[in-house]
Amino acid sequence: MRMYDLIRKKRDGGQLTEEEIRFLIEGFTKGDIPDYQMAAFTMAVYFRGMTDEETAALTLAMAHSGDVVDLSAIEGIKVDKHSTGGVGDTTTLVLAPLVAACGAPVAKMSGRALGHTGGTLDKLESIPGFNVYMTPEQFVESVNRIKVAVIGQTASIAPADGKWYKLRDVTATVENVSLIAASIMSKKLAAGADALVLDVKTGQGAFLKKFEDTVKLAETMVSIGRRAGRKTVALITDMNQPLGRAIGNALEVKEAIETLRGHGPEDVAELVPAPGTQMPLPARAADDAARPPRTAHDAAACGRPPEKFREMIRNQGGDPRVVDDPSLLPTAPVRTVVEAPRSGWVDGIDAYALGDVTMLLGAGRRKQDDVVDHAVGLVLHAKLGSKVEEGDVLCEVHARRPEDVAAVEERIRNAFSIGPRAPEPRPLVLRRIGD
Ligand code: URA
Ligand code: CA
Repeated sequence: MRMYDLIRKKRDGGQLTEEEIRFLIEGFTKGDIPDYQMAAFTMAVYFRGMTDEETAALTLAMAHSGDVVDLSAIEGIKVDKHSTGGVGDTTTLVLAPLVAACGAPVAKMSGRALGHTGGTLDKLESIPGFNVYMTPEQFVESVNRIKVAVIGQTASIAPADGKWYKLRDVTATVENVSLIAASIMSKKLAAGADALVLDVKTGQGAFLKKFEDTVKLAETMVSIGRRAGRKTVALITDMNQPLGRAIGNALEVKEAIETLRGHGPEDVAELVPAPGTQMPLPARAADDAARPPRTAHDAAACGRPPEKFREMIRNQGGDPRVVDDPSLLPTAPVRTVVEAPRSGWVDGIDAYALGDVTMLLGAGRRKQDDVVDHAVGLVLHAKLGSKVEEGDVLCEVHARRPEDVAAVEERIRNAFSIGPRAPEPRPLVLRRIGD
């Protein structure tokens, strides 16, 4: 078999066999297939798509490209939550300590920034000393002892995805249903949790902007999960504006801490319990089965989330004092604001543009080996439905250098649409797929 022929077949709209897909994934993982051929193949998939059979075969080949973790040594039902990628999506940072504080084991493997979206690992690494890598033994031991660990995909878990993810990030090939489904589900299957809660983002700030594509992605992932014997639920959630107010690594950690303390932004506090209620919360929260926690505040009542976050940070080598004093997180030297050019109601926010701007400020990578700047990002002062007067602050910009701000200021201003009327409020959770 030759990679050349597989690229050609996909370029011309053909369907790959299971054997061809295994050849592709094994060859790429081992390094026999070079990045340039894989990049060409990926772009062909972007334009031609994959059938359900190809996607299922791809997911399994990727899941078995490395170790499959055995979490059976952890007591209880192990739940993993995964977002398909949004802008300012702080939910894992809130949900992990929150659910663990309620007594349910959270054994979570997270990812890095991808395209215009941030990644939980990069965010956690803005906490001084925080280490996102553990051996499988340390991972199991941590979750048994303190109920929570959030770690990176080690080189041994779905290595095909680890490598491919980095390549897709810098070749504009993220936005494809099959590639996203296989990427997420391969790691989730290899990471060994019993149940999965998928937060599938839709709208302008998501990888998939069209609602039908999002539904297809959610259904594909739920079906792959179930066939593999994992209880899988997907929530389709709105990404037509950034989640919360902060976008950027340290800024989002700060926002997560505020939410754990019960005074985070409304939408974060509203969204967090949505996946949270899908997680089998034991003890006080779930005993009261008729009334699962409906708000972050409510869920917070069943445990002590800030304390749990401190414990999680300490366990992973980070400085737990950031929970009480977020000023210990890295801060950017240049701060400025973008003001409203006229009065009115904010009736649109281009989440993609704001995510992209944050990455350009340095919060993500332009090339594979770029170093992430943890301090930079944006803090929104206005959200959809905010009433603003001319000159009001729309957004704070936290940057490394003044010229970085100059390069993005106009784009930030244009990302806010200001109209004469308040827009209709939109629900955050649009659909549930699975039980
Ligand atoms: N998140 C992932 O893990 N993979 C993708 O391809 C997109 C989002
Ligand atoms: Ca946020």
